[in-house]
Amino acid sequence: MTWDPSQYLRYDNERSQPTRDLIAALTNFHPRTIVDLGCGTGNSSALLQQRWPTAALTGVDHSPEMLEQASMSGLAATWQQADLANWQPDEPADLIFSNAALHWLDDHERLFPRLISHLTWGGILAAQMPNNFTQPSHTLIAEIASEPRWKQRLGEVIRPSPVAPVERYLELLEPLTTDIRVWTTTYFHVLRGEHPVAEWTGGATLRPVISALGDDADNFINEYRNRLAVAYPPRPDASTVLPFTRMFILARR
Ligand SMILES: C[S@@+](CC[C@H](N)C(=O)[O-])C[C@H]1O[C@@H](n2cnc3c(N)ncnc32)[C@H](O)[C@@H]1O
Repeated sequence: MTWDPSQYLRYDNERSQPTRDLIAALTNFHPRTIVDLGCGTGNSSALLQQRWPTAALTGVDHSPEMLEQASMSGLAATWQQADLANWQPDEPADLIFSNAALHWLDDHERLFPRLISHLTWGGILAAQMPNNFTQPSHTLIAEIASEPRWKQRLGEVIRPSPVAPVERYLELLEPLTTDIRVWTTTYFHVLRGEHPVAEWTGGATLRPVISALGDDADNFINEYRNRLAVAYPPRPDASTVLPFTRMFILARR
């Protein structure tokens, strides 16, 4: 699957708000080493460096397109290409941070404990993942993909949400941590322009479909846009509200 940094950055400000909120929750914490997992274009890395300018910062991602964009950010960071499914740091980190990336990985029952094991004692795992997989922005993709026209090509591409209920992360991580906080926030993004919800998901959730369909993706997207227009009707001023719930996890080893 390929990422499109410019499409992702169309909603740069909205996509970075959870990073700002998660950093704001990290009070009285002074990490010397920070790893940004799924750093993408380096948006979250930039906010981390702004907050802790003297910490050694490493951004990890498997997408060459996203890492190329990150490396042009001018940040004093080390960029590492790796698959988070088997990533291991050279040394434990004080802060393992991840904004909007861990939901791309399966098997959270193993992933989260493994990430905790890569922290220094007293170190923190701070993660944000979308928690809106039952919303039309997502279910309509699966609905269209399951129709005879697309089923054969997209059957393998549409994966069930790996994000477990909030309570499961508490159960899983409480025995491994000295302090844990989990919460959700629903952002009500006011989007403008044509087909704003499809433009939004086109930067992330829709990428596997776009990559799998190639030149045929436009036909899929047109159908998706039609159904989105019913699910998210425009307001009188032509803007569209996209409610988006996200889950936050702060876990201290
Ligand atoms: C939605 S972007 C988030 C980027 C950034 N953290 C931000 O806040 O803007 C998700 C990123 O996770 C990366 N990613 C997804 N699965 C991954 C994996 N298995 N290994 C490494 N990176 C992964 C993608 O390449 C993408 O850059």
